Amino acid sequence: MKTFYLTTPIYYVNDKPHIGHAYTTILADVITRFHRDLNKDVLFVTGLDEHGQKVQEAAKKRGVDPKAHCDEMAPRFLELWERLNIKYDDFIRTTESRHISVVQDILQTVYDNGDIYEDEYEGLYSVSEERFITEKEADSGQFKDIKKLKEKNYFFKMSKYQKTLINHINKNPNFIQPAHRKNEVLGFLKKPLEDLCISRPKSRLSWGIDLPFDSKYVTYVWFDALINYVTAAGFNSNEEMYKKYWPVNYHLIGKDILTTHAVYWPTMLMSAQLSLPKGIFAHGWWLSGESKMSKSVGNVVDPLGLIKEYGVDPVRYYLMREMVLGNDASFTMESFIKRYNSDLANDFGNLLSRVTNLLTKFFDSKTPKFEDNSIEGNSIKNKGNELIKNVSTKIEQMKVNEAIELILQFIRSVNKYLEIMAPWKLVKSDKESAGKVLFSAAEALRVSSLLLSPVMPDKTSIILKTFCAEKTSVKWGELTPNKTIKKHEVLFPRIDINKIEKKNISHKKNVQKDNIITFDQFKDIELKTAKIVEVEKVEGADKLLKIQVEINNKKKQIVSGIAEYYSKEELIDKTIIVVTNLKPAKIFGIESNGMLLAAKNGKDLTLITLNSEKVNTGMIVY
Ligand code: ME8
Ligand code: MG
Repeated sequence: MKTFYLTTPIYYVNDKPHIGHAYTTILADVITRFHRDLNKDVLFVTGLDEHGQKVQEAAKKRGVDPKAHCDEMAPRFLELWERLNIKYDDFIRTTESRHISVVQDILQTVYDNGDIYEDEYEGLYSVSEERFITEKEADSGQFKDIKKLKEKNYFFKMSKYQKTLINHINKNPNFIQPAHRKNEVLGFLKKPLEDLCISRPKSRLSWGIDLPFDSKYVTYVWFDALINYVTAAGFNSNEEMYKKYWPVNYHLIGKDILTTHAVYWPTMLMSAQLSLPKGIFAHGWWLSGESKMSKSVGNVVDPLGLIKEYGVDPVRYYLMREMVLGNDASFTMESFIKRYNSDLANDFGNLLSRVTNLLTKFFDSKTPKFEDNSIEGNSIKNKGNELIKNVSTKIEQMKVNEAIELILQFIRSVNKYLEIMAPWKLVKSDKESAGKVLFSAAEALRVSSLLLSPVMPDKTSIILKTFCAEKTSVKWGELTPNKTIKKHEVLFPRIDINKIEKKNISHKKNVQKDNIITFDQFKDIELKTAKIVEVEKVEGADKLLKIQVEINNKKKQIVSGIAEYYSKEELIDKTIIVVTNLKPAKIFGIESNGMLLAAKNGKDLTLITLNSEKVNTGMIVY
């Protein structure tokens, strides 16, 4: 039996999980369910990253001990995975003793190989980023909490493995996927690779795993966390299991943690003389507007709320279908409802209700005896067989959204087949032929449901029960004739978009009837005149500019989506109006501390500018 081992990142327990974490975990669940259906021996591991500064600080904020904090947070993840129907095989927590001993063992091996050395380091340290930063980074204004720090630490000779890693990436085109991420890593490796600081003195951070060779230090959280992937595979505890599953088929991750997985981790494994993963797959981000959905920005969608409103399967379906694997995608309620109504309520739901209603009405609620072997009927059968093959190819290629689209195309073609054959009319002149058409359509539904079951396990299991087909497999021709079909409620009731809009409006806070705000509410917004002094493009975001404005000789950094409308030259020296008391947000990882006022209509945008000869900066606007 072929094995298939897949992992998700282990998530930080600094806060409860959001839709981004849910996405990766659902994706992993869907992929592993597909592989189980392909008769593979699957190991699917997810878990929690419980050490390090972030977690220690989150615990401190809540006034609890870090371990107690982790123990309180873990159930929130477990409950969500349960609600989302995640069928993981192992849930690993880095505070477990099975993991601590593996981390110490690997550290000792790497140390004994001569790949860890001591060094004194003096530099600028960002407390929130939990790392030393370069002068250039410090000047960028992105980091507010910088201090100078001199420290003795342990370093891992990552640089020693740079060449070997580059060769490995070049020789194994599937090692980092999709290809554009591979190129990103190769680009990063063009510069000399620095050694990695893998220790933290306990005086600064105590929440971590002791270094086996110096108990005054704990292990850097990434050197600890990445090792979970071999711990869970049975390294040092279950040799047989470890041989069976390692190397892992895929580490599924978000693109935010590509470098740690594609550079730190393989070099660590090389030094420990362990095999490298077969694949690292980095998916894109769920965005809210133009920025990454993230806890620190405060723009996250709570998966539990969505599930409560629309059910688990539609949420799983939307997340899987809407994101092109590898690219970013925008999460909006509008696209959720559109997707739900068109694919699930219309195409899939409609086919199901047509077939079951006609069988109930004309065939005594029984599946007919024969399939349709007319030209049209054979064509559906051929398409069904093709589909089964193509879906497994797409899954092997990690193209989950394309696999789903193929299934939906098939469903649409079956709906069309029904329209052409019109069994509701045919039944009056030729009942047997009408029965054959409905048999073939029911068979198509059975096959589609089995193919969609990794994505929507609950709803598809209801459909399979309807046709007494729970125990059948994904092969054309397994529908049992002459079985009484079971009744069920409407599986995908249409969502009325008007109702949603009304609801959203009534949820808007502080805004009274007719969109009126009080004078006090207006006064809460602080508007000031400001002068643009620096403008920079934001790497990887065509629409964004990083702008420094000056207000009373003080600089303020604002990230704004106006790159399409203004060039750098046009902006410099302009006097504008800025909202100065907006809650800081990170946009594309860059801190933004305000907003520029502009007039916009569809295509055009004009900044509101003032005559700089008459206006100083820092004047209050109202
Ligand atoms: O980085 N869109 O944990 P983390 C898509 N503990 N996916 C998202 C997302 C978004 N907006 N936000 C989060 C860590 N994710 C480390 C990992 S692994 C050895 C250690 C998902 O809690 C995505 O998978 O910050 C991303 O890589 C992960 O959550 C980061 O989770
Ligand atoms: Mg993160």
